[in-house]
Amino acid sequence: MRVETSVLQFNYREMLYSPRNFANFVAYFLKVMEEVTYQGLTFEPYIRREEIAKQVHRLAQDIKRDYANEKVMFLCVLNGAFIFAADLFRACDLRDAEITFIRFKSYEGMESTGSVKQIMGLTEDITDRNVLIVEDIIDSGVTAVQLRKELAKHNPKSVKMVSLLFKPESLTVGQGPEYVGFEIPSKFILGYGLDLDGLARNLPDIYVLKEK
Ligand code: IMP
Ligand code: MG
Repeated sequence: MRVETSVLQFNYREMLYSPRNFANFVAYFLKVMEEVTYQGLTFEPYIRREEIAKQVHRLAQDIKRDYANEKVMFLCVLNGAFIFAADLFRACDLRDAEITFIRFKSYEGMESTGSVKQIMGLTEDITDRNVLIVEDIIDSGVTAVQLRKELAKHNPKSVKMVSLLFKPESLTVGQGPEYVGFEIPSKFILGYGLDLDGLARNLPDIYVLKEK
């Protein structure tokens, strides 16, 4: 699903005479009231929890169909993917599925550092197993490439990736994920596991940095 940054337009002068403009004004005002600030930056609602739940459910149907006759090990990439992975893992409802975790870090503030640090390694043997990497977001693709390289050393039977979000215009290396929830423009977002220096992971909706 492709998500664009929504633009609510209204004209102050015409606002009182046109019901459509008035409705837009009310919608804009309600949105402003829902804004959140972190480190002096303002973020506005972008993807609501209901939309997220709908995409998680759709992804789960696809994954369930593709792994119906195979055992699969979900590999959640910490920290960002932990909320998505928990929702997706339950929604897939695959009897023989397992989940394990790995931890990478590539972002400082709102920028990719361009290099990926592995903070916590694999704790399970994935040799000859089907691995489904669960990511929150694919941005430059650097983390995904490093991860796939690392996994290949252990000779898994198959490796696929599911990412809740994907910024295709930011991809500089590798390929996009096999399963994608939302394709979004190259803007900084947070909430539903995604953070700004550790903050905002607990927001149930996703927010985007407000343009000045
Ligand atoms: P990549 O290696 O550039 O693809 O970045 C992947 C990681 O950067 C993701 O797993 C996130 O943890 C983080 N990241 C990328 N874009 C954003 C964003 O818009 N908000 C918060 N974190 C992000
Ligand atoms: Mg991440």
